[in-house]
Amino acid sequence: MLLLYLAGAGRDPAAFDDPDRFDVSRTGGAEHLAFSAGVHYCLGAPLARTEAVTAVRRLAERFPRLERAGRLRRRRGTVIRGPVELVVGQPARALAA
Ligand code: HEM
Repeated sequence: MLLLYLAGAGRDPAAFDDPDRFDVSRTGGAEHLAFSAGVHYCLGAPLARTEAVTAVRRLAERFPRLERAGRLRRRRGTVIRGPVELVVGQPARALAA
């Protein structure tokens, strides 16, 4: 059996500069595999991208000083990865402004 980690491919330093850095403004790099590739490329990719852009933009507009304020709890498993819980907050002085 062969198990491929698409997320691992996205952290390949031979393909991406500083691959562990979260950078939503990356351009010009290799094509990532989050939506797979070839004939089974994710049919919902355009919708997923639109949703993500809208959600992150609205979150940043509503909470411009948002920062990590607690623990990150990761989902257990090998295929679907990501956080189950990420505690964030905004400094009180930013909320008052
Ligand atoms: C961030 C969100 C999403 C991610 C990361 C994602 C990722 C993927 C990946 C990796 C595959 C390939 C699976 C494989 O090769 O076996 C896939 C396939 C697929 N995705 Fe998504 N997906 C997302 C959102 C969506 C949405 C919103 C829809 C529909 C509204 C969707 C519909 C599909 C369908 C129908 C396939 C099967 C394509 C085929 O086998 O020809 N996905 N997706």
